Amino acid sequence: MESSKRWDWYREHTPAARESVYLNAGWSGPMTDVVSGAMHAYLDAELMAGPTRRDHFDKRVAMREAYRENAAKVLGAPVDGVTITSNTTDGLNVVLSGLPLNEGDRVLSTTIEHPSGTVPLYWTRERAATEVEWLKLTAEDSNAAIVDRFASRIDRRTRLVLLSHISFATGQLLPLREIAEVAHRAGAQVLVDGAQTAGHLPLDMEAMGADFYAIPMHKWMCGPSGLGALYIRPELIPMVQPQRTSGRGAESWDYEGGFVPAHADIKKFETGTLSTVSVAGANAAIEQYLESGPEAVFNRVIELTRHAETRFAKIPGFELASPAREEARTGLFAFRLDGIDALLAAPQLQRNHRIVCRSVRTENAIRLSLHVYNNEADIEAAAAAVEALLRDGLEESPDAGPAD
Ligand SMILES: Cc1ncc(COP(=O)(O)O)c(C=O)c1O
Repeated sequence: MESSKRWDWYREHTPAARESVYLNAGWSGPMTDVVSGAMHAYLDAELMAGPTRRDHFDKRVAMREAYRENAAKVLGAPVDGVTITSNTTDGLNVVLSGLPLNEGDRVLSTTIEHPSGTVPLYWTRERAATEVEWLKLTAEDSNAAIVDRFASRIDRRTRLVLLSHISFATGQLLPLREIAEVAHRAGAQVLVDGAQTAGHLPLDMEAMGADFYAIPMHKWMCGPSGLGALYIRPELIPMVQPQRTSGRGAESWDYEGGFVPAHADIKKFETGTLSTVSVAGANAAIEQYLESGPEAVFNRVIELTRHAETRFAKIPGFELASPAREEARTGLFAFRLDGIDALLAAPQLQRNHRIVCRSVRTENAIRLSLHVYNNEADIEAAAAAVEALLRDGLEESPDAGPAD
């Protein structure tokens, strides 16, 4: 299907994108009716068969492994390096709690991280007495300046670099490959928070130099919540100790103390029973994304962001919080309005104008996520709503939007 027709298809099959101006995939993306249809079909099948009737159960197992293969395709990774998680945070925790970090080891992170990276990292510091440093990054920093800043702070004691591939606050795309090269030269490993990337831009673990990379299904992939994936470079799997495990964590064991740990098996991180209905939805969402083509999706999203930059620049008091540089631009479009509290403005845009978006406290910014089911008319509607808000002023409201 030609690209423009594909985006029309998405819109037609994404009811939430017609019910409101849905600009919030960076928080949670809306499903197509194909994704929800796959979930319903699964539930109907289970209703009749029961969860463990042999034929149905075999399907559940096959779906689980198909999910691993699908997630591997999204990540651009070998399937034996992909473990199934519940979300991004879960994946980050697997690595931060399982790496053999010791007192005196250093971890380098950044000031653009989401609490889902930063707070587990603080717990790692509590547990292992590692030193942690947060590099200050801003949306104005060029890629070259960012790489230099990493290079100046990575030393022989730096064991790990933790960074977001895309900043949740400004949408800034970080130069992962170059940062990973600097880290690897010093012997450090790289853990990537990919919450904002899967379903948004093409990924390739080897080319990008990621050692660990965590993604969700419910954001840009527009799948169900409760499912994610974590890539671990296969040769590093034995190094990471599972803090939670299951029968999958043993090659063999008995009741007399005999235990052979499955050190090198990525499945050692997986605990009991998965929600197969979520797996059904995630498989459909990934297939839909791969069919559209990751390059084509990213190109379309960038086209929408450029359009938004031009349109919003006409609004008095508008200030772009996202980077407008080609190298760092993504589908997250964040902006400030002179004299306006974004925490009040974002819910008002939704209440009065059906614009579903969010605020970002740290930037005092309103953030729009522009995805392929959106179009130029959505951007016009959002810009007109912002103009109306500036005209009418902020309302007093108890609904102050999400906490970061
Ligand atoms: C950069 C980043 N990291 C982590 C998270 C948390 O993601 P999840 O709910 O998949 O754990 C988010 C969610 O907004 C995010 O934007």
